[in-house]
Amino acid sequence: MFKHLLVAIDGSHHSLKAAEKAVAMALQFGSRLTLIHVARRFHLPDSLKAYLRDEHIEGEPLYDIDAATRKVIDDVRREALDAGLHAIDVVFKEGRPARSIADYAGAHHVDAIVVGSRGLAEPETFLLGSVSHKVANLAGCTVIIVR
Ligand SMILES: Nc1ncnc2c1ncn2[C@@H]1O[C@H](COP(=O)(O)OP(=O)(O)OP(=O)(O)O)[C@@H](O)[C@H]1O
Ligand SMILES: [Mg+2]
Repeated sequence: MFKHLLVAIDGSHHSLKAAEKAVAMALQFGSRLTLIHVARRFHLPDSLKAYLRDEHIEGEPLYDIDAATRKVIDDVRREALDAGLHAIDVVFKEGRPARSIADYAGAHHVDAIVVGSRGLAEPETFLLGSVSHKVANLAGCTVIIVR
């Protein structure tokens, strides 16, 4: 039923809860699980970017992965392994979060995307954050919003 689940991580405790649900579902359905984080690009000065490009310097991707996101990813991976789930991948993208998540799902035969209802923003009156709202609108597959 859900052969491939995609869970979106922004470093918030909501995304950790979403990932824990996704791990439980993956165990129940025997799904493959992919964690996705959409990062901002480092704001390097143009001169430094040009230098790195000209000198063919490679290494860490120029993504700005914050400590909270790394911690959520590490915690989820450890919990999943402890629970016996080994088919886990982590992908980093950059760009607009909702569009990138929906596009990744479309291109990788994802059966359901799991997101938190809210993320890192201060709680407001809205029930849903803008990313979860947009993913639900853009995705071509089932979207599970975890509260
Ligand atoms: N950059 C991101 N990369 C991956 N997943 C994300 C990202 N941002 C949000 N999400 C996912 O969307 C869920 C809802 O977060 P969202 O950003 O919509 O709410 P918010 O931060 O409370 O409000 P907003 O960002 O609209 O001000 C998160 O729990 C997470 O699953
Ligand atoms: Mg947000």
